[in-house]
Amino acid sequence: MTEQREQWGSKIGFILAAAGSAIGLGNIWKFPYIVGQNGGAAFIIIYLICTAVIGLPVLIGEILIGRTTQRNPVGAFKQLSKTKFWAAVGSMGILAGFIILSYYAVVAGWALGYIFEAFTGNFFDFSEPTQAGDHFGLLTGNVYWIIGFFALFMILTMGVVFAGVQKGIERGSKVLMPILFLLLIILMIRGITLPGSEVGISFILKPDWSVVNAQTVLLALGQAFFTLSMGMGAMLTYGSYMSKKDSIPSSALQITVLDTSIALIAGIAIFTSVFATGLDPNAGPGLIFHTLPVVFTKMPGGFIFSIFFFILLTIAAITSAISLLEVITAYFVDERKWRRHKAVIIFGTIVFLIGIPSALSFNLMSDFHLFNLNFFDFMDFIASNILLPLGGLLMSIFIGYIWGMDKVLKELKFGAEKLFDRYPLLVKFWQVFIKYFAPVFIFLVLLQSTGILDTLISIFE
Ligand code: PFF
Repeated sequence: MTEQREQWGSKIGFILAAAGSAIGLGNIWKFPYIVGQNGGAAFIIIYLICTAVIGLPVLIGEILIGRTTQRNPVGAFKQLSKTKFWAAVGSMGILAGFIILSYYAVVAGWALGYIFEAFTGNFFDFSEPTQAGDHFGLLTGNVYWIIGFFALFMILTMGVVFAGVQKGIERGSKVLMPILFLLLIILMIRGITLPGSEVGISFILKPDWSVVNAQTVLLALGQAFFTLSMGMGAMLTYGSYMSKKDSIPSSALQITVLDTSIALIAGIAIFTSVFATGLDPNAGPGLIFHTLPVVFTKMPGGFIFSIFFFILLTIAAITSAISLLEVITAYFVDERKWRRHKAVIIFGTIVFLIGIPSALSFNLMSDFHLFNLNFFDFMDFIASNILLPLGGLLMSIFIGYIWGMDKVLKELKFGAEKLFDRYPLLVKFWQVFIKYFAPVFIFLVLLQSTGILDTLISIFE
């Protein structure tokens, strides 16, 4: 290849773009609804532990594989290991990219559609809080509405990936992410100051451990992976555009802290409002669309605010969606020598087709179930709770045992010389986490939640 590979314009460019990938519907839409479905505080605590002890160490490793090889997930593993098995691990990431983007873009379509709802002032006609939920049900029940906005969102995403790494992805993230942060803080303050918000606060602060089981831990682990965009090569691909002058550990830490804070802020905003208005925390994927319209009607300037909010939510979704499409595109451009534009159009269209049954799960196909889940939830379960943790497990095994620790450390040290000199203990900790802790923990959680561990234990009893 003669064409020079693109690079991020600056270190902050990488952090913002990676944070743009991490921060998205996972924080603002998914985190609140799975916290609501899984009993609140206890789930949040397990999620925070998963993020700190599994998420951050594996994220460092994933970015490192990308930066070292400057390749897409398949090419990266091929270059470092030369065996088919590890190339297949990379392919699993590409597959996860297809699956996640296919239903993610459906939800992003709702956010896009809600920009128009906000503009028409529809929310302000509701006299009862529950009417917002009914309205959401009506919209998502309409096949044309749901497919139309889903298609529009895919076209927007494809447009940005078309423009290439620096121009499209980096420039947008720099301006828009800070504004989104600010709006969420305002929403959180509104939530906290609503009369009756204390019940929501105690829901997210007082853990009820009786609701926790192996499945809860798997969901929390899956959420940690999903929200950090890791386990499938998105961060690996973004890391491949990173310079060796920049520190991976410090970038990964900043991304993790930013991403986690946004989820927590969104969680506080939603649950204070849910309980203050007497809504149901267990509403599922529609939760924020049931809740936020009610909050907007209760705040000064709510009309303008609601428009801004849904615009920014859509943009946050785009900065995540482009990282998913970028993984697929980078693979076909690097490995199969496709032209970028061709790859984007063809795979964008395929993702759209795969996503149609997910969009129909809210209307025509609502009675169709696989393993007790509708198609949408099934796709999410397979990707977030199986493929991503499995990808993370394999990446940590690869780093801990296959790549060679001396080579790993040599690469990690580029840009992080200060950390290596001043805090060698932290580097040691990372080695222990990536080599022993992460693989064992993820393995046990996967085993336990699929029931295999129970069966094994009963055999030995
Ligand atoms: N991290 C994104 C979010 O929280 O919305 C979702 C996501 C993007 C997951 C990219 C995986 C990925 F590769």
